[in-house]
Amino acid sequence: MKGLILSGGKGTRLYPLTYTRAKQLIPVANKPVLVRVIEAIKEADVTEIGIVVGHTAPEIQEALGDGSEWGVKLTYIPQDSPDGLAHAVKIAHDFIGDDSFVMFLGDNVIEGGISTLIRDFSDNDWNSQIVLKEVENPSAYGVAELREDGSIQQLIEKPEVPPSNLALVGIYMFDNNIFKAVNSIKPSGRGELEITDAIQWLIDNDYTVFPHVHKGWWIDTGKPTDMLEANSHVLEEIAPTIAETAEVDSESTVDARVTLQDGAKIINSIVRGPTSIGKNTIIENSYIGPFTSVYHNCEVRNCEIERSIILENSRVIDIEKTLRDSLIGRNATVKRSDNKPSGIKMNLGDHGTLWV
Ligand code: DAU
Repeated sequence: MKGLILSGGKGTRLYPLTYTRAKQLIPVANKPVLVRVIEAIKEADVTEIGIVVGHTAPEIQEALGDGSEWGVKLTYIPQDSPDGLAHAVKIAHDFIGDDSFVMFLGDNVIEGGISTLIRDFSDNDWNSQIVLKEVENPSAYGVAELREDGSIQQLIEKPEVPPSNLALVGIYMFDNNIFKAVNSIKPSGRGELEITDAIQWLIDNDYTVFPHVHKGWWIDTGKPTDMLEANSHVLEEIAPTIAETAEVDSESTVDARVTLQDGAKIINSIVRGPTSIGKNTIIENSYIGPFTSVYHNCEVRNCEIERSIILENSRVIDIEKTLRDSLIGRNATVKRSDNKPSGIKMNLGDHGTLWV
């Protein structure tokens, strides 16, 4: 069994963060989503992993290297343009060879990992296994319609009128027959080779596709609100740790659900978990509330922050109101100014939003 991670694409829904960063490298609970995907695949004892990359290939390669840091062997598969998930499968044929494989979208986060799914797939003679999840907004996803006996009748990509509330999770298991499928289908109306069409081809040609309905949480980290939700879920799931080199002064309170990474400093502050404070980040005279991740080398002084994500090298200083439900990019500064004339001043990135 091999692994195939899809990490190309554009990430337009996460602008402005993804103008300068591959969306799969944005951290959730202070770890890039892509690293969480690699760890989930490794946990299922799959160590030979291909990773489809697009225009953000250099930074992905820089972040992941050859995969040895996570005990896996990574092979990069360049995709010239994001022509669809089934196109990504097509160009991975040489890497996959005759093996079966698990395909994991590089922006998906799922509760409980994939070991059981992989075991079920290996123990049965299905040609494919897909994962479904009941959602409130099925039109945003691939959607499955099941028959009364639980088998799949139909899969449709982002239908305007969804036939069910069962969305396709971005985790799929295939044997080699998927290559017949991706070579048989035509691009959809939006010009992509759709994986839903390829799986439908398997069903229509009497191959067995088993639908597993997932009961835990699942997040496709496509939008800022999804990132915050994924961050909250993962923070609740992980075991908190305090690095030996982290410092908490005697005026501060840090509860048991807080992770402090190497060199983090908490000065005269209250930090309530689940929360993660990154490497060499300084929190001073502040309150950091639950479901917050502050990444590496940040500075937070004289502020209150709740349920937010702050990326590396950013500064949040002297803000009077509580900053909540916010996503702040890298090298950003949010700062109080008492200069006259008073008013709001900003250098806001393209596609950014400021709520005042
Ligand atoms: O997250 C689940 C959904 O993922 C499924 O319900 C849909 O059926 C499936 O089509 C997909 O929809 P998205 O609109 O979320 O796909 P997105 O364009 O965000 O791409 C998913 C991942 O695959 C992302 O990490 C980028 C990568 N990708 C995407 C395309 C189109 C590639 O590597 N190559 C590509 O050509």
